[in-house]
Amino acid sequence: MKHIVLIGFMGCGKTRIGRELAHKLKLPFVDVDKEIVEKEGMPIADIFDDKGEAFFRELETEMFKTLVAKKEQSVISAGGGLPIQENNQKYLENCEVVYLTATVDVLAKRLSGDKKRPILKGGNLREKITTLKAKRDPIYERVSDITVDTSDVAVDKIVAQIIDALDSRR
Ligand code: S3P
Repeated sequence: MKHIVLIGFMGCGKTRIGRELAHKLKLPFVDVDKEIVEKEGMPIADIFDDKGEAFFRELETEMFKTLVAKKEQSVISAGGGLPIQENNQKYLENCEVVYLTATVDVLAKRLSGDKKRPILKGGNLREKITTLKAKRDPIYERVSDITVDTSDVAVDKIVAQIIDALDSRR
């Protein structure tokens, strides 16, 4: 069985929904960022500060490659930048890719006051989200198999929608 990978912009709910989806499907849940933090023994923001984004992207690719190579099917939450890196897209081709969307307004609300995401540091949050989202959205759309809006729907409903969509692809 293919791994189920949740993708989408920061704040779209990949971890929360992924955990619940895995629970419902009785599959293991794994968060790529959390695995990196545990392996490196430091938060993502510190990895960016100390070693730079390029170094983080290498860790991310290595970790994702390792996780998708595992035989046991799992639900994987991918960081928002992972599908944007071209060298990660070949791994996504062998997975069921679920793209979680949300409006700029919703994302800005969810991400306001966030200190964990170096990509959003400094400047006007709403503008940053708008610009980056416009660049990334076409890629998320292209690499995904299923799209589900998370803007104002309860987690259990979103999970049910994902399960239905996955079932109809079988
Ligand atoms: C990033 C998203 C983050 C994390 C890192 C970079 C991005 O993950 O991987 O801060 O480039 O969008 P989340 O999408 O889980 O916040």
